[in-house]
Amino acid sequence: MKHLLGCEGLTRDESIALLDSAREFARISDRKVPKLPTLRAVTVVNLFFEDSTRTRLSFEAAAKNLSADVMTFQGQGSSLSKGESLKDTAQTLEAMGADVMVVRHSSSGAAARLADAGWLQASIVNAGDGTHEHPTQALLDAYTLRERLYGDKSVGKGLDDVSVVIVGDIAHSRVARSNVHLLSALGARVTLVAPKTLMPVAVDQWPVDHTTDLDHALSSPPEAVMMLRVQQERMQGSFFPSPREYTKHYALTAERFRALGEKTLVMHPGPMNRGVEIASVAADSTQSTILEQVTHGVWVRMAVLYAVSQGRKDA
Ligand code: CP
Repeated sequence: MKHLLGCEGLTRDESIALLDSAREFARISDRKVPKLPTLRAVTVVNLFFEDSTRTRLSFEAAAKNLSADVMTFQGQGSSLSKGESLKDTAQTLEAMGADVMVVRHSSSGAAARLADAGWLQASIVNAGDGTHEHPTQALLDAYTLRERLYGDKSVGKGLDDVSVVIVGDIAHSRVARSNVHLLSALGARVTLVAPKTLMPVAVDQWPVDHTTDLDHALSSPPEAVMMLRVQQERMQGSFFPSPREYTKHYALTAERFRALGEKTLVMHPGPMNRGVEIASVAADSTQSTILEQVTHGVWVRMAVLYAVSQGRKDA
């Protein structure tokens, strides 16, 4: 694969191959010096037009673990303020030697535009584009589920019949979209939960169940519940009466967490709004995979950087 623009269109076999490759890369964490020479002489540019903590730093760690050279562009403080375009910015970075560009942008389709417009030779990895997709987040979520559910028996496995409830601002969530595509391809049973105003209009065409009733969705505890942040920055107007009302109906509160029992995994892509969509007792519990998800992000991004670098060479 030369680019990774989304999980839509990734086959089950391609997805499992990426997860298995990430598992191979995870083995370097046991080493004294956790570095491989795999991407020596490859330059990875993090092209971030939007804020990030986890994704940017984890791509940086992944590239360094593979001995790539890393440059980071952040929108703030750049020549964007002087009116420089996406095309000119990307071409400028390619002229400095970028082989792989990891792109985060507030516009849906920005990564695909860079990949398809014929402006660049570089491989493009989508690190989150508007409300569209965040494929490496979904891959690290699937990786985490496989590890918790199957451990050493994960290799070659999908997530057949694993029940996952995704709760929150589905309409604005690129994490939800990527997870719907990937988890479905891997055979999981996904249920989306959101108030009507935060459910995508076309949700009936997605290969998932959906409901507005969180307590009903959790009444038969799923294998995992994934809580999403309310994305105020992508909202124009009011989608629910008040944060308190939202928490009452759609948060994993301490009461709902206790009622789930001890087997359901608690996931969140971060950043969390503690006390809004998730109670600390759930986020900090042994059932929580939130920090594991962050660690697994490094291995998954190593696998993705390796795959697109190979794809670029082949192309
Ligand atoms: N999950 C995620 O994308 O986090 P960041 O915005 O911190 O990268």
